[in-house]
Amino acid sequence: MKILSVFGTRPEAIKMAPLVKVLELTPSIESLVCVTGQHRQMLDQVMQLFQIRADFDLAVMQPNQTLNGLFARAMSGVDEVIAKVRPDVVLVHGDTSTACACALAAFHRRVPVGHVEAGLRTGNLSMPFPEEMNRRTVDGVSEWMFAPTLTSKANLLRENLQGRIHITGNTVIDALAATCDTLHSNDTLAAQMHANYPWIDPSRKLILVTGHRRESFGDGFRSICAALAELSKRPDVQIIYPVHLNPAVRDVVMSSLGQCNRTHLIEPLDYLDFVWMMQRAHIILTDSGGVQEEAPFLGKPVLVMRDVTERPEAVAAGTVTIVGTSTLRITEAVRRLLDDAPYHASFSRRINPYGDGKASQRIVSALMGRNFREFGAAVADGTPLPSTHAMSMDSDG
Ligand code: UD1
Ligand code: UDP
Repeated sequence: MKILSVFGTRPEAIKMAPLVKVLELTPSIESLVCVTGQHRQMLDQVMQLFQIRADFDLAVMQPNQTLNGLFARAMSGVDEVIAKVRPDVVLVHGDTSTACACALAAFHRRVPVGHVEAGLRTGNLSMPFPEEMNRRTVDGVSEWMFAPTLTSKANLLRENLQGRIHITGNTVIDALAATCDTLHSNDTLAAQMHANYPWIDPSRKLILVTGHRRESFGDGFRSICAALAELSKRPDVQIIYPVHLNPAVRDVVMSSLGQCNRTHLIEPLDYLDFVWMMQRAHIILTDSGGVQEEAPFLGKPVLVMRDVTERPEAVAAGTVTIVGTSTLRITEAVRRLLDDAPYHASFSRRINPYGDGKASQRIVSALMGRNFREFGAAVADGTPLPSTHAMSMDSDG
């Protein structure tokens, strides 16, 4: 079976890397990788970390790219690759322009599509924009829908789609568990991480921030930055914010927060470093999908700076709270977590609603027509959860 995996952004690469590794090790599968290069620098660091080589690189990224320009370049580029390779299956991931354009290109060539991370929904086409539309479109043309959770499967069932649905868990936990193990088992690496960030002050609580959603551009980001500026006045905290490379984000973040005390605006971190940083965080403030899935596995409280999430599982479990982009709501929620230790502790439970580290294996089993236990079933059966090393390593104890 010839399988072409296509991805282009940082989160897709992180979440497809463990799957590509399993595909490569499966004797009856010929695995090929095409990257669109929708992200350039942020993609390349992930490829290096997981040692994945692209067979095709479409290099579509342009500065300040428009959604339509990007979509068109990805679609026509991957169309040529599909025509040349003639794969049996095209695998795409999630909700990006790359995923949607490449799924449609495969569909037009009548090549079956497998959607990794299928079925996430907010029910609102504007949030996240344009990702909610991308997800729905990809699921609509997919023959295999790899739903991470029971909730995402239920979303798909409501839509009466044609493809088969398998609950696999999210491959992000495969990637995270492996990365935590690497950090835990390699003392030299751990020492190197400390050496990389000598300015982290262990006596101050670390607030780790990421943000990049299009629907928050403008007022939303100004409001988020006002909250961070306010919080930076507290002497007991330090803020670390790896700033997304999108100029629409960078301009407002740099100009609003550049002069704030104890606030470190840094370049996007390599995944290894970012996982290390999450392990040290006291609170994570984010609008990222992937971080919402990773933080509960690490036992870290997360405040989601969006009005709605397509990842309700950790909210239901009480370790993630939606705070939107309002300055007041963000500052109040952070202050409560900083000042109320029992409240913080109640948020800091390690839970695994998104995966158990075996999602990639399940996806390959499904593609090969083998029987396997679905993700929810594995948890219900009491199958041990992976990685005892992912536990919280909060620097302030
Ligand atoms: C995309 C995805 C979003 C995902 C996010 C992860 C779409 C529609 N959205 O949004 O689902 O959550 O990636 O980060 O596909 N840039 C660089 N170098 C990089 C990466 C980005 O310079 O390595 C800059 C470029 O100027 C680019 C801009 O960031 O034009 C925006 O990138 P783009 O992929 O268009 O959108 P994201 O907002 O990153
Ligand atoms: N991430 C990273 N470096 C950073 C910030 C995030 O490696 O500086 C990782 C993070 O751990 C997660 C993924 O990137 O796995 C999320 O990417 P992003 O927030 O860009 O996209 P989203 O998940 O919202 O689609």
